[in-house]
Amino acid sequence: MTWTRRIADFATALLVVASLCPTTFAQQPAPREETPAERGYRLLLTQPYLPAVFDTDDFDSLWKLWEEPLKSRAEKASIEERRRMAFSRYGLTPRPTGAKGADTIFPLQYVDAGQGRWAINCFACHGGKVNGKVIPGLPNSHFAFQTLADEYRRHKFLNGTIDRLEVIGSVFPLGNSNGTTNAVMFGVAVLAVRDEHLEFDSSLPIPKFTHHDVDPPPWWHLKRKSWLYADGSSQTDHRALMPFLLSTPQNSGERVRSWEKDFQEIYAYIRSLEPPKYPFKIDADLAGRGKVLFEKTCASCHGTYGPKGKYPNKLVPIEQVGTDRVRLDALTAEQHLRYERSWLSYYGRQKVRTNPGGYVAQPLDGIWATAPYFHNGSVPTLWHVLHPEERPVVWRRSEDGYDRQRVGLEIEELKELPDTAKSGVQKRQYFDTRTFGKGAAGHLFPSELTEDEKRAVLEYLKTL
Ligand code: HEC
Ligand code: HEC
Repeated sequence: MTWTRRIADFATALLVVASLCPTTFAQQPAPREETPAERGYRLLLTQPYLPAVFDTDDFDSLWKLWEEPLKSRAEKASIEERRRMAFSRYGLTPRPTGAKGADTIFPLQYVDAGQGRWAINCFACHGGKVNGKVIPGLPNSHFAFQTLADEYRRHKFLNGTIDRLEVIGSVFPLGNSNGTTNAVMFGVAVLAVRDEHLEFDSSLPIPKFTHHDVDPPPWWHLKRKSWLYADGSSQTDHRALMPFLLSTPQNSGERVRSWEKDFQEIYAYIRSLEPPKYPFKIDADLAGRGKVLFEKTCASCHGTYGPKGKYPNKLVPIEQVGTDRVRLDALTAEQHLRYERSWLSYYGRQKVRTNPGGYVAQPLDGIWATAPYFHNGSVPTLWHVLHPEERPVVWRRSEDGYDRQRVGLEIEELKELPDTAKSGVQKRQYFDTRTFGKGAAGHLFPSELTEDEKRAVLEYLKTL
């Protein structure tokens, strides 16, 4: 055997071995580049854009402030069980399987800011669960922001570790019913103290606040929309995702502007999201009849669905829709103009609607999953949207119950708040439609349908 032949045999032998052990010998495929959307998702789960305000030890101690009998139950529980109880109390969820950090204790709604410190992220309000399933981009209808903030501040006060800013922060209301927040007024507050480049300017006057709570819309709507927010006031753009970063003095305007590329990727992620599919049985015949009725009665405002679906981005005058108008009136033309003149709106090159005059008829993709309904989250099920006269005055949801008959939250319905829930933590578990900004009236458009037709439309809404 010549030496060349020997080498050839050796090479053949190597190939045989290589084919048996593909991972060691065969050529490795180059690692796939993350797409911008994947990077956006990773940034949301890993990047602390706001300073951490508490750490794991603080979080694990909060149960000591809970009321009885919960406190005694927590005391006897294992650490894991106690954390589950804390997640449930504050409206936090585990990260979905496979998500970055799913093997850590960090919930979807907070990121690891190093050394066990917790920094809030966008999923605090924009990542929640329905029927027990966690879905990033679903509004977090459980988030108990005020309860969590009050309890960690009390904990830190008792430990002597509270700082000045946290004391100042404690006067700004965060939200009076779990799942909804005063986010629109934070937006006003953070812009009011900054110039058009988003730098601090202490000479600016403090505006008047109309505190009220809003229910966030699902993120998978974004790709359908050309205007954002309940009043359709701002054009859809990645910079519109950034006001939340202004809510700490530690983020200078320059710093916030330097995150623009991150937010282009976060925008790509948000635009890549698809609505979740209804997980239960649907009566196809009934839904088919509902589709025809929907297209006659609802589509002029809400658009059409399916492959050729068209969404008209319609802003409906408040007099016509008739839902609670506090959200609309809370923002003045001057406040809209501040936004328009700032970096967020390209110094006025992108126009803002300074006097929107109504609310956007939202896309209804994935509507089965996004209860409660309307911009203030006042209506617990789609059946109640279709039956305005039957909407509950006071209601409380169960944690994970899903009402398949009425399509939406499983609730307990009341005429009055119970005596045990007149203030604080317990009160925020109830939604009282008689309080400021929380009215459940209006949107009487379904009234032209018969009872039978409403049943069909309800079935069709499950398919979107
Ligand atoms: C404290 C809760 C909260 C946090 C945290 C929060 N948002 Fe929101 N977000 C809201 C609420 C409430 C609205 C609805 C406001 C309105 O319509 O008036 C909203 C609206 C939006 C919208 C417009 C959606 C639409 O369809 O009109 C986008 C996009 C958005 N938020 C992105 C973000 C991003 C990105 C972050 C993180 C940087 C973030 N939000 C953090 C509560 C929050
Ligand atoms: C004239 C326009 C118009 C018509 C017609 C109309 N809607 Fe609406 N709809 C709106 C507006 C505006 C809102 C937002 C109200 C608010 O948030 O305060 C809305 C909200 C909703 C919501 C809640 C959306 C959410 O994400 O919370 C549902 C569900 C809904 N409409 C279903 C229907 C159905 C079903 C029909 C037909 C029977 C219908 N609408 C007809 C304008 C309309």
